[in-house]
Amino acid sequence: MSEAIIEKTRQFAQSFFADDGSGHDWWHVHRVWQTACTLADAEGADRTVVEIAALLHDVADWKLGNGSEEPGYETIRNLLKDDLPAETVERVCAIISQVSYKGAGVKTPVDSLEGQVVQDADRLDAIGAVGIARAFAYGGNRNRLIHDPGHEPVLHQSFGEYKKNKGPSINHFYEKLLLLKDRMNTPTARAIADQRHRFMEQYLQQFFGEWDGKL
Ligand code: ADP
Ligand code: NI
Repeated sequence: MSEAIIEKTRQFAQSFFADDGSGHDWWHVHRVWQTACTLADAEGADRTVVEIAALLHDVADWKLGNGSEEPGYETIRNLLKDDLPAETVERVCAIISQVSYKGAGVKTPVDSLEGQVVQDADRLDAIGAVGIARAFAYGGNRNRLIHDPGHEPVLHQSFGEYKKNKGPSINHFYEKLLLLKDRMNTPTARAIADQRHRFMEQYLQQFFGEWDGKL
């Protein structure tokens, strides 16, 4: 029963995110799904809810829906309604509405273990070697500079400001990537984040050394 709906959801997600160049491609979703499975097993979360929410977590993203999330939820409810109890569909929608990062100073609480696992898996994909690649891919997609030494790191205190931000990609490390380690919900994710965090610190040291012609 749950295997069939997971497979249907996987197929939907694979075609929905087939050719996105902004960091929301299918392989991001695939990595988040796989990591979410690992975290769910380690933390004892409901696998079906976690897998479906992970596969659909970016469908209602404001960056993909012309600034609105509503059409995304309609798509999700239509996809799941014949295969899952309404209560489960709403659990999935609640998780999807809670996962997103909204700026350095904005709290993003999740109210279920399954939501914690999906949020952690999504955030793990924003850090480490893959996270670095995604940040520069996103910046390139939006025509942003890699780095601008005249641009002091900005930490946004509201979702509105965060959304409007057009800063260089290096700013994103200070606004988000370097903060994520301390915002993980589960101990399993925190351990993975620690290692990825150290890698990013090393990367930035090398980056600024090269920038100044010293390395
Ligand atoms: P997610 O899918 O992890 O919720 P987002 O939708 O916020 O992440 O963004 C997709 C990817 O682009 C992530 O890796 C994120 O860190 C990165 N990103 C988002 N905003 C910026 C930005 N202003 N500059 C550089 N990278 C960004
Ligand atoms: Ni995501």
